Amino acid sequence: MNFFHIESLPHSLSTMNLLVFLLFIANTLFISYLASLIGGTYLSNYFRNLYLKKKKNEYLDFSLNMYEKLNNNILTPFGLGIAPLFSVVFIYIQFSDNPNNSIITSLILTTILFPIGLIIHKLDYKKHSKFLAHNPYSAFKGNSGLSYLSLFFFIVVALIFTGSEVSFYQNFGKAGSANIFSTIFSLNGIISFVLILAISYLFAIINFLKFEFKPKESDNDAYHLTKDKSSALFLYFGIGVFVLFLVRNFMFNNAIKNEPFWSIFLVALLSLIVSIYYVNGSKNNLQKSMKVPYAAFLIFILGFGGSDAMLFRNAADQNIAVISKKYDKEMEEFHITHAAETEVKVDAEGIYFDKCISCHDMDKKLVGPAFKDVVPKFKDNQEALKDFLLNPTKIDPNYPPMPNQGLKPTEAKALAEYLLKQIVQ
Ligand code: HEC
Repeated sequence: MNFFHIESLPHSLSTMNLLVFLLFIANTLFISYLASLIGGTYLSNYFRNLYLKKKKNEYLDFSLNMYEKLNNNILTPFGLGIAPLFSVVFIYIQFSDNPNNSIITSLILTTILFPIGLIIHKLDYKKHSKFLAHNPYSAFKGNSGLSYLSLFFFIVVALIFTGSEVSFYQNFGKAGSANIFSTIFSLNGIISFVLILAISYLFAIINFLKFEFKPKESDNDAYHLTKDKSSALFLYFGIGVFVLFLVRNFMFNNAIKNEPFWSIFLVALLSLIVSIYYVNGSKNNLQKSMKVPYAAFLIFILGFGGSDAMLFRNAADQNIAVISKKYDKEMEEFHITHAAETEVKVDAEGIYFDKCISCHDMDKKLVGPAFKDVVPKFKDNQEALKDFLLNPTKIDPNYPPMPNQGLKPTEAKALAEYLLKQIVQ
């Protein structure tokens, strides 16, 4: 896959920090959307099955509405799913020293599987809504296999995606040798995956309660039952997410190094507790009181993404150092090969009068030695003179050290040439 090799560009340290930030945004978008797809499809199937048992039309309405929100037009899946996923993969490539490794390969696999899942999902929605448009609800006989198939695709994507991330956190330094499947099915891999599934379910429930669930004036049993069931499930899954989130961070504690990580992590945990508390505490006017838990849950999702980004940044430390060194080296080579062009613009004499004559004279000792005494030793070594000017070291005990003059490499080079020309004829 030579193409990807080329796409792994040399980056400076600051570009890489910017990329970590972009990764946080793309990752959080993608994980939230994937979570709502998995949870929403699951919950939607659940309501279809519930309809078959209870024969209350509301359940089929819930089911269909949920589908519609997830994948109803081309913009939602593209903007929240495909575009962020491709960005994540591209950024991961930038962070790998050699993108020809199993982590990148499996991430690329998700960019194929995910759109397939979306298409199947869409087909299922079309089939479902067409059926209900032409038939009475009572003719509905059960789930189509398509809905389970799309769920299967999304879950596989989640499995590979979280596995790749875990693999990155654990062995990116030696990514070439990392076996992605052993990571996916390691304890860390499984915990991360189950965590994503549990978050998916929470996400689906809270979206359902906020946007689908509209208590009617009349006292409707189905609605009350749904509300009670949903908030109870939110409680159980919420506790599960809480515990898994904690456990997972302790398992990655080698990648946790800094204070801000713990602050973000705590904010995320607290918001999760707030959302659980309010979803369960809201007895009556659910629509109104859903604002607080919904906001708290979104903060939790952001905190989850943020703490993940910090894990990533720490895990990538080594790679970032290697890649930014490569960049620095390339820049230096660039300057050397293009020195001839830039040199013309450097006014060595101007800099000499500007920065050197306060301490030096060609023939007299001032604060520093006379140039005629010190420059000749560089006669055959202009490079060494340049290095000294760039970064003066202590030389002669009779003089104080020379302060760094803050010269650019091209200026130092030009000055070295200028001095040698003046002194050594
Ligand atoms: C603030 C005073 C000061 C300024 C400004 C200054 N130098 Fe110096 N320079 C010194 C001193 C002091 C030494 C002796 C340092 C030592 O021997 O450790 C020195 C040493 C040198 C040497 C001798 C190095 C050697 O290997 O013996 C060179 C060459 C030199 N300076 C070039 C320059 C040039 C070119 C500039 C202008 C860009 C400059 N200096 C500006 C104080 C200065």
